[in-house]
Amino acid sequence: MLAVKEITRLIPPYGGSLVDLRVAEDEVVELTHYANQLPSIRLTSRAVCDLELLAVGAFSPLDRFMSAADHQSVLDNMRLTNGCVFPIPIPLPIDDDVTVTIGQDIALRDPQNDLLAIMTVEEIYEWDRDEVALKAFGSRDARHPLVAEMYRWGRRNISGPLRVLKLPVHYDFKNLRLTPAETRARLAQYGHQNVIAFQTRNPMHRVHEELTKRAIQEKDGVLLLHPVVGMTRPGDVDYFTRVRTYMALAKNYYDKDRVLLSLLPLAMRMAGPREALWHAIIRRNYGANHLIVGRDHAGPGKDSEGKPFYGPYDAQELVASFSKEIGVKVVPFRMLVYLPDEGRYEEISKITPEMNTAVISGTQVREEYLHNGKSLPAWFTRRPVAEILSETYPPRHKQGVCIWFTGLHNAGKSTTAAILTTLLQEHGRQVTLLDGDVVRTHFSEGLGYSKADRDDHVRRMGFVAAEIVRHGGLAVCAAVSPYRATRNDVRNMVDDGHYLEVFVDTPLEVCEARDTKGLYAKARKGEITGFTGIDDPYEPPRHPEIRINTVSYSAEENARYILRCLTEQGFIRPNHFEN
Ligand code: ADX
Ligand code: MG
Repeated sequence: MLAVKEITRLIPPYGGSLVDLRVAEDEVVELTHYANQLPSIRLTSRAVCDLELLAVGAFSPLDRFMSAADHQSVLDNMRLTNGCVFPIPIPLPIDDDVTVTIGQDIALRDPQNDLLAIMTVEEIYEWDRDEVALKAFGSRDARHPLVAEMYRWGRRNISGPLRVLKLPVHYDFKNLRLTPAETRARLAQYGHQNVIAFQTRNPMHRVHEELTKRAIQEKDGVLLLHPVVGMTRPGDVDYFTRVRTYMALAKNYYDKDRVLLSLLPLAMRMAGPREALWHAIIRRNYGANHLIVGRDHAGPGKDSEGKPFYGPYDAQELVASFSKEIGVKVVPFRMLVYLPDEGRYEEISKITPEMNTAVISGTQVREEYLHNGKSLPAWFTRRPVAEILSETYPPRHKQGVCIWFTGLHNAGKSTTAAILTTLLQEHGRQVTLLDGDVVRTHFSEGLGYSKADRDDHVRRMGFVAAEIVRHGGLAVCAAVSPYRATRNDVRNMVDDGHYLEVFVDTPLEVCEARDTKGLYAKARKGEITGFTGIDDPYEPPRHPEIRINTVSYSAEENARYILRCLTEQGFIRPNHFEN
């Protein structure tokens, strides 16, 4: 590890030596051969992100997953044992059933089993989940996404020197992926003393454009637009969409001599103030000497009592207090709001009570606009950005839905489902009808009627339905699907709020009287066994979204009723051509 005095050489602009864990090119073949014979550990996506940033020196002066002493020191003092500020623990936890011994070389592989690195194990140590939760994240509340995740990690961490054979490969946005050294080199070409980094995990709206442009101007520097594309908060807009918004903005709305867009494969912790300080250290390694820190930087949302985990400006204060030492100044921003009468943005601290203001919160953006496919207003979002977002978040009548019919044999599932399919097509939607009996001749061929086979059959249908929904289609599924737990599995496969369970609630006597294929008769005679309703249970849904009665209403009436429900929810647009 680098000594404390050497760290000053890392301070921008652009000097200093960064950690680089990659082995020399001419050693790769031989070491790969060697590594392929070693026992290996498969890393989580988070550990892969950490390994990549360790390898290229983004966490300099840290050069390995943390040792016990560094881990403890980071928790207690926000410093490595060598004295350098480092606020976030970077452990490599291993599964409880894995055996490792000290002194051993092990291969580290990604989730697809690709070889990435060799670690020489120097330490194996236990860590305390509650201690890490409290010290690093300030809470044990499972609403904190990292606290929740951490409780699933193994109880032991391992540490030791790393030889990185291959960085994780990224085929997307290749031109935007720069290492710290490459970033510094590119920044140097801009010829400005000041480099202001902007961290983000959200699509950029005009408020972010405003923050960053004010910072460029104030510091007369170049902006390092440095969005996170590793792991962010669950529920965030996917990075493919986000990066397209950043590209659109950088190209159309910034002076190209004042902005460098580059992607950071960081696995965020949502640790608020400690995370902001970590962001500053990372950006220093990439060549920045300023970091924009606004309101609720790297905030994890609210805890189980509805209170924010951290104060809105705690992050600014913490980073500012270490500013000198780490060589990164804070460019602080109070919350910016829009003044519709004047058509400009202003800091909340400069707003007087008689001024008319407009804001759209992050939650509103997601829940009110994006998830409903509602276009964001032009004062809030630049047109090209809004267009990119609306491709990812189409309006409700272009979103996918799974309509899942469950009920006894002969209850009327297939008939109703088939009529509904036609009605949906009449209303301009793309529909796939997955009828259990038909599907059994395709992807469920060979499956019988044992519990295990029925479950497989239903789950396969669920998988296909979930894919259809993800791509914006309607999946109309009809299957006895007698077991509650399996139906719930299917519900969980499909996007939240895009699954409608239709309970075809026809009494057994009625189904048996209908007996179109003579199956009930055979089951009664014992010629077939495991028949739902006769000698195998049907577990009725407790809270179906829709319940239909096939005794008092025709299949067509029921199908039209379901169509009305879908229309009320916005998934279907009324046919405007009808009079
Ligand atoms: S995060 O990593 O900090 O969660 P996010 O994209 O939400 O990423 O915010 C990026 C930066 O912009 C943070 O420093 C945040 O504090 C700041 N920021 C976002 N929105 C506002 C706003 N309306 N006013 C002031 N600062 C903001
Ligand atoms: Mg935020």
